[in-house]
Amino acid sequence: MDHGTRRAAKMLSDARTVLCLTGAGVSAESGVPTFRDAQTGLYANRDPMDLASPGGFRRDRALVWGWYMERLARLGEVEPNPGHHALAELETSVPRFTLVTQNVDDLHERAGSIDVIHLHGSIARFRCFDCGHPYELRPEERTAPEPPYCPDCGDFIRPDVVWFGEELPGEHLARARQLAMEAQVLLVAGTSGTVFPAAEIPYWAKTNGATVIDVNLEVTPISRIADIFLRGPSGEVLPDLLAAMELFAPHESDYDDEH
Ligand code: OAD
Repeated sequence: MDHGTRRAAKMLSDARTVLCLTGAGVSAESGVPTFRDAQTGLYANRDPMDLASPGGFRRDRALVWGWYMERLARLGEVEPNPGHHALAELETSVPRFTLVTQNVDDLHERAGSIDVIHLHGSIARFRCFDCGHPYELRPEERTAPEPPYCPDCGDFIRPDVVWFGEELPGEHLARARQLAMEAQVLLVAGTSGTVFPAAEIPYWAKTNGATVIDVNLEVTPISRIADIFLRGPSGEVLPDLLAAMELFAPHESDYDDEH
């Protein structure tokens, strides 16, 4: 086991408040493409503004709807990976652990994570583009070439996700910010750290004294400011980190000494 993993495990074992920030990289080993991978990314050879902005939806709603429905269908075929499971288990061993994710999938919840904040919404929820009323999508509407109409106002239905140029859900962002400022450790995994305000979370945490641990395949703006950078796939690094925490777990003999 390398020194970085041992140090990170010690920090996590000692911490009472931990915030974890995840991005598309944690779902990559489940078979969900990330956004910015040059070859396989969801934005590869495409303009994100065409796929994930209100203007893009207005210009070509069939394109946007098809892109989201394809992603939603693919999510039905994948399972959480060992990285998701390790984070769910970490939640049970830290007194106050919250996970804030930029992912619109539900793989963290399916792995057993409970306190999850979805900063960018959910790909399986829908609402009206105009009046905002929630909409329950019927199975046949998932394969339709165009989104359905809102029964309340007649505008189109859209995925309940945050698009470029839109505000994040205020109460979620406020809670994430508060937790970042209170956290003793911020564990970041699988994000390029390029989309704000989510990418600000590590700075809020660090400025308020947290130890920042970053898990990524590549160097990112977050790994540059991290106290510990664990380079590798989150599906391997996070389970290793959890296993390393065993080294610092209190043993029964520790308690025996007290009696
Ligand atoms: P990106 O696609 O920007 O970045 C994914 C990151 O995960 C990269 O830094 C990769 O190096 C890393 N990565 C890939 N596979 C990994 C693995 N197996 N283990 C560890 N790291 C791995 O995805 P996000 O940072 O999540 O927003 O993107 C942020 C936001 O941009 C998304 O939420 C989405 C997008 O526009 C909205 O849809 C609003």
